[in-house]
Amino acid sequence: MNGEEILEQLGEGVIIIDGRFRIVYFNRRAEEITLHSRKEALGRTCREVLRLANCGAGCPVARLKEGGGTLVDYEASVTTPDGQSVPVLIRFSAITNQQEEFSGGIITIRDMPTKRPPVAEEYSFQGIISRNRRILQLLEILPEVSRSDASVLIQGESGTGKELFAMAIHKLSLRQKGPWVALNCGALPESLLESELFGYVRGAFTDARRDKPGMFQLAHRGTLFLDEIGDLSPSLQVKLLRVLQDGEFIPLGSTEPVRVDVRIISATNRNLEDMVKTGRFRSDLYYRINVVKFQLPPLRERPEDIPLLVRHFIRRFSAKTSKPVQDISPEAMAILQRYDFPGNVRELENIVEHALIMCKEGHIQPHHLPSYLLGLEKELEQAKEMRMKEVEISTILQVLRKHGGNKIKAARELGIHRTTLWRKLRGLEQTLQHY
Ligand SMILES: Nc1ncnc2c1ncn2[C@@H]1O[C@H](COP(=O)(O)OP(=O)(O)OP(=O)(O)O)[C@@H](O)[C@H]1O
Ligand SMILES: [Mg+2]
Repeated sequence: MNGEEILEQLGEGVIIIDGRFRIVYFNRRAEEITLHSRKEALGRTCREVLRLANCGAGCPVARLKEGGGTLVDYEASVTTPDGQSVPVLIRFSAITNQQEEFSGGIITIRDMPTKRPPVAEEYSFQGIISRNRRILQLLEILPEVSRSDASVLIQGESGTGKELFAMAIHKLSLRQKGPWVALNCGALPESLLESELFGYVRGAFTDARRDKPGMFQLAHRGTLFLDEIGDLSPSLQVKLLRVLQDGEFIPLGSTEPVRVDVRIISATNRNLEDMVKTGRFRSDLYYRINVVKFQLPPLRERPEDIPLLVRHFIRRFSAKTSKPVQDISPEAMAILQRYDFPGNVRELENIVEHALIMCKEGHIQPHHLPSYLLGLEKELEQAKEMRMKEVEISTILQVLRKHGGNKIKAARELGIHRTTLWRKLRGLEQTLQHY
């Protein structure tokens, strides 16, 4: 089979466009999804044929023309010749020539069942929602890891779901009926943290009027979640290591060791490997807590999860407020899919909550989103316009130079009328006068 025959057999619609968005290839599956025949489609622009809900200003394909790269699982709907709208998932890769200029693109289209549940069963496990390959791999080993009683270290940026994963491990473990105790090691000064962890006995210090059990005792036969473990001071690192090695510790002011049976799950948004290398985190403790490691990818590396999470949060919040908000418009979704989410899933959750307060019913629209997202969109738009102008100017000057300033020849090569060129040059002169 040659390349074209393979493309014909694909279960995905494949459309190839040239640098001016004209369709140069349209496979059989693309015909089936869009209901346009290949004959009709070839030579026309993707905009004319697909008529996506946000063709035009917000066109995702045109955006990539500027920045290059790939767009993954973009949700959209194509309009068929009889005016029906078909929900699809689109992937788009820009093709650039040797000068790194946009010279076309490959669009692949998969259809999406219209009446699918907001979050398909297969993408949700223990309240963790994802269709990202790396997360699905973690979910696959989650039951086995949970039952094993091994110490687990969960690393990931803030808001990536570390606590959610930690709780899932506890719930799937043999300790599920035992206590779940969480302690944030970054939130307390060292001395307080020590007494929180190990407890104290009456009279250990002036204010210690009665015995106070530490988190280790409270978590006996259960799970202790040590959040922000990278913030632990060197002396507490030693003390923690000792408990993990011996299974016992001595509360402050006591002489009696206490034996405990506790499973440790730790989390951090720091790079512990680096901290070990630079001596800020003990390597022996690192190996103890890191029998299994879960590395959670940030949301910007899994844009395919954004639609799933948005719908999940819409459902959750609208159930709470009983508002008839059904979904999100493609335009608002497009804005979210372009944002890079420094605060990860938590930030997305806050954005959806905000949008639901602003949106009374129906679909979330761009103006329901927090203004910092919209400001960003405007800036991007302006930057793009500026860049397009710059590219245009430099192309014109290049061609003019090539033809020794002959405007007629230059206009011919540029494929524009000479009055258009003349007008553009006049505009350019005016712009230059501003400098
Ligand atoms: N994959 C997911 N599916 C559904 N909800 C998620 C997912 N990941 C995170 N969340 C939600 O996002 C919020 C933040 O998650 P979580 O608190 O677990 O993150 P974290 O990594 O512990 O953050 P931090 O570093 O700030 O403590 C929570 O409300 C959680 O329920
Ligand atoms: Mg957390």
